[in-house]
Amino acid sequence: MQTLPDSLVVALPDAAATAAFGERLCARLQVGESVCLSGELGAGKTTLARGAIEAWTGAPEEAPSPTYTLVQTYQGARGELWHVDLYRLKTAEEAWELGLEDAFQQAACLIEWPDRLEGLLPRDRLDVELRPDGAGRTATLVAHGAWRAKLATL
Ligand SMILES: Nc1ncnc2c1ncn2[C@@H]1O[C@H](COP(=O)(O)OP(=O)(O)O)[C@@H](O)[C@H]1O
Ligand SMILES: [Mg+2]
Repeated sequence: MQTLPDSLVVALPDAAATAAFGERLCARLQVGESVCLSGELGAGKTTLARGAIEAWTGAPEEAPSPTYTLVQTYQGARGELWHVDLYRLKTAEEAWELGLEDAFQQAACLIEWPDRLEGLLPRDRLDVELRPDGAGRTATLVAHGAWRAKLATL
């Protein structure tokens, strides 16, 4: 039996590369699956999410950052997409009040600041950690559940 690696490092030299990588991830994303985006403020999480949202809806989107609303939802041919920013979340329980647990099953989710969930993470998820690298960024991907078989295709 062949074991597939479950992590991958991707160089993102500029903001356009981050958005394009979001599009690429979106092409593999389905309802019931999540992409968890971590990294400091300014790391590029929302840039990546916007690329994915545009690809999901098939239309250029304003895609406001859900910093204050915590959640923005979008419709696409494949179903509902949630863009979630948990930076201001006070307790993990608050996320359940948003309906996040149902969204893990019934929508595709892009989650900024997933550490706020204190480990209550969706099973089928791709962890994307963005780090500054010179003028650009490096993305480190770790696949869980359904994402493991797809990682090699990214
Ligand atoms: N790969 C990259 N290289 C250089 N700048 C980037 C890259 N990706 C995103 N940026 C820029 O970083 C800034 C912060 O991005 P943003 O997506 O708002 O970060 P976050 O949501 O993590 O706080 C934006 O000006 C964006 O254009
Ligand atoms: Mg952001």
